[in-house]
Amino acid sequence: MKDFTGKTAVVTGAASGIGRAMGLALGNRGAKLVLADVAADALEAARAEVEALGTEAIGVVTDVTEKASVEALADAAWDRFGAVHIVHNNAGVLVRAPMLDADEKDWDWILAVNLWGVIHGVHAFVPRMLEGGECGETEKTKNPDYLG
Ligand SMILES: NC(=O)c1ccc[n+]([C@@H]2O[C@H](COP(=O)([O-])OP(=O)(O)OC[C@H]3O[C@@H](n4cnc5c(N)ncnc54)[C@H](O)[C@@H]3O)[C@@H](O)[C@H]2O)c1
Repeated sequence: MKDFTGKTAVVTGAASGIGRAMGLALGNRGAKLVLADVAADALEAARAEVEALGTEAIGVVTDVTEKASVEALADAAWDRFGAVHIVHNNAGVLVRAPMLDADEKDWDWILAVNLWGVIHGVHAFVPRMLEGGECGETEKTKNPDYLG
């Protein structure tokens, strides 16, 4: 995709770091933004920054570890903009410690955000994007026998 004007982009983990920068980069290119994060105050600050660029932006407090929360994010995106063209499953965490110092609780959290967050994002968004013709062909749509 080269022209982002009028496209709708969803970014998780949008309140800081890479996600915040993605929101600004896409907003600067004319995309409408659905920004999602667990951190409500920082999310609102990021949303206001994007809106100040002159594009539409909503913030949806979302916990990507929770399937229902990501489904609610998708509902909010379609309710507001009627289509979703880009999903950046960016929310991610790490434990700033040597691997041996991370306990099972730490790993459960890392996997819940970094792995399950992406799985929930794919399941909540991609089928509807395919139905709406909002994303390109995948192996699945090109080949009905594809098992991936
Ligand atoms: N910054 C880098 O150089 C770099 C390099 C490689 C990979 N990464 C990875 O990319 C991801 C983003 O990095 P970053 O530097 O922007 O991190 P960051 O900590 O600045 O931003 C992550 C955002 O995700 C949000 N978040 C955390 N848990 C969440 C949840 N359950 N649901 C929704 N949002 C949640 C946080 O509130 C935060 O706003 C991380 O997984 C990081 O490990 C970063």
